[in-house]
Amino acid sequence: MSPFRVTRTLPEDTTGAALRADVLSGLTSSPKTLPPKWFYDARGSELFDRITTLPEYYPTRAEREILLDRAPEIAAATGARTLVELGSGSSDKTRHLLDALVDLRAYVPVDVSGSALEQAGAALLAERPELSVHALIADFTGAFALPDAPGPRLIAFLGGTIGNLLPEERAAFLGAVRSLMAPGDALLLGTDLVKDEETLVAAYDDAAGVTAAFNKNVLTVINRELGGDFDPDDFAHAAVWDAEREWIEMRLRARTGVTVKIPAVGLAVDFAAGEELRTEVSAKFREDGVRAELAAAGLERTHWWTDRAGRFALSLSSVR
Ligand code: SAH
Ligand code: TRP
Repeated sequence: MSPFRVTRTLPEDTTGAALRADVLSGLTSSPKTLPPKWFYDARGSELFDRITTLPEYYPTRAEREILLDRAPEIAAATGARTLVELGSGSSDKTRHLLDALVDLRAYVPVDVSGSALEQAGAALLAERPELSVHALIADFTGAFALPDAPGPRLIAFLGGTIGNLLPEERAAFLGAVRSLMAPGDALLLGTDLVKDEETLVAAYDDAAGVTAAFNKNVLTVINRELGGDFDPDDFAHAAVWDAEREWIEMRLRARTGVTVKIPAVGLAVDFAAGEELRTEVSAKFREDGVRAELAAAGLERTHWWTDRAGRFALSLSSVR
């Protein structure tokens, strides 16, 4: 049997029904919103990988620093034989974990982006032909079953992606993760931390405009999949810090009044000049808040590590 398998729990037609439903409800609500998972077609995944190398985008470097420092401790604390990674993308930082997990038998990357999984899987296979990789094309906010793989299992959710869920979604997500875990399993969670506004806004509004292109990519996805006629140039990228909710909001602001037709959902959507569409939040966390959210889901945080500059945290939790 090939050591690289791909299982799809999303219908082949993901960008059909689910995208239509999200576009229909999101673009007819006030204010207009879209869920972030639709950023990640092949071009979106590629743009995100470029974001991770930008000078302003510190989270990837900060999290990598922690992983490099702590991977041996993580390996010793978990003894994981299976690593499950949610929203794995390029699996690039994950290599530091794969290197340290001495008992590892199987790696299960889970992502909505089939293209990211294919690329990451091919690269890993070339480097580690002995590793069994079972990629899962799935939505981690929905119900999905993990393939049979030996325990103890370490579930990793890196990149601060948990911050892209709204608070209620986070609670539901953590509860679902908890229910996938058996005694002895662990959750490794990456959370970006609250810091000064200038640093945060720059990380989501880089000088080279890569984040702007990434944000606008969702319009291109709607054009391609649903026959929409968005002109991305009609919209400006904005990243705004909400100090009360402690999250960055990514928005697309209409430069002028414009009507967009989206035939597949029978919509003609009016944007007033200056009207904003919220495409994503990226919540920033504090140590106590993370502990409390994990505890509310029935998880006990056993370790908390930050990078030396205190920008980003990794925590390890087990089933209580
Ligand atoms: N873990 C990587 C990538 C983070 S970007 C890193 O730390 O750099 C977020 C990743 O999550 C992308 O690969 C995206 O395709 C995936 N993703 C976003 N929403 C998802 C969802 N609802 N279900 C599964 N994967 C999702
Ligand atoms: N998980 C990433 C984050 O919140 C995703 C991300 C980075 C992102 N930059 C973005 C999402 C720009 C939308 C737009 O940091």
